[in-house]
Amino acid sequence: MKSPRVSLVGAGPGSSDLITRRGFKVLQEASIILYDALVSEELLNEIDITIPKICVGKRCGEHSFTQDNINKLIVEKAYTYGHVVRLKGGDPFVFGRACEEIEYASSFGIPVTVVPGVTSAIAVPSSQGIPVTRRGISSSFWVMTATKKDGNFSEDLKFAAKSSATLIILMGVRKFHEIANEVTKYRNPHTPFAIIQNGTLQKETCITGTLNMSNSIQDQLNISLPGIIVIGNVVAEHPSFFEEELQRVLHSNF
Ligand SMILES: C[S@@+](CC[C@H](N)C(=O)[O-])C[C@H]1O[C@@H](n2cnc3c(N)ncnc32)[C@H](O)[C@@H]1O
Repeated sequence: MKSPRVSLVGAGPGSSDLITRRGFKVLQEASIILYDALVSEELLNEIDITIPKICVGKRCGEHSFTQDNINKLIVEKAYTYGHVVRLKGGDPFVFGRACEEIEYASSFGIPVTVVPGVTSAIAVPSSQGIPVTRRGISSSFWVMTATKKDGNFSEDLKFAAKSSATLIILMGVRKFHEIANEVTKYRNPHTPFAIIQNGTLQKETCITGTLNMSNSIQDQLNISLPGIIVIGNVVAEHPSFFEEELQRVLHSNF
């Protein structure tokens, strides 16, 4: 009988070399890996081919696992294989439903450890040169999803928009235009934003602009790709704003 245990490991924001050293070590010690769809294939390819790997994410092809299914699978595989590594995108505790998995496994007396990961909420803007705080510009940031379970805007979006914090919105690309409209109720329509998709991966894209441009931007977005919306004056640190400013200065000379 294998002794069951579970490690919840943060895989980092995307690029396979952005997992922590501890995370990678634990991954190599896995008896089986249950991973989310946003986990890089390159990272999985670095792990011994004989270790079974099952994709349990919502974007994993034709199989769609409910959270209930995933909880049960973790426990079942821990009894069959021993050490289950539950590999999650970013950090397990940032919109990762890690608590539900820990509680379920623990209710069977299975020991669970957590290996933190680099969250996409900070690393993805960072990879585009956008600081989430900057002295004199923004002294805090607010990481959130824009909508609640029922699809309505979360009150947090309003509170965050009313503050001077940098807004970092996960899982919001589909509703970008509506989010921008909501934020514009409390912030200047010329506030800069960035939408970064497939962050830290080779196919990373970044669209920048100001909130009043949101309508035309929505059509340019591929809503099936993971993306992060950053709103706030720190976004003006992105190189595209230097180019814009340069163009403005050049043209004003004629
Ligand atoms: C369920 S949340 C999980 C977040 C994760 N636990 C973390 O700490 O990064 C998934 C959302 O994170 C964002 N995300 C994750 N990886 C991303 C990436 N490489 N590029 C852009 N957005 C990403 C997207 O908003 C995506 O819909």
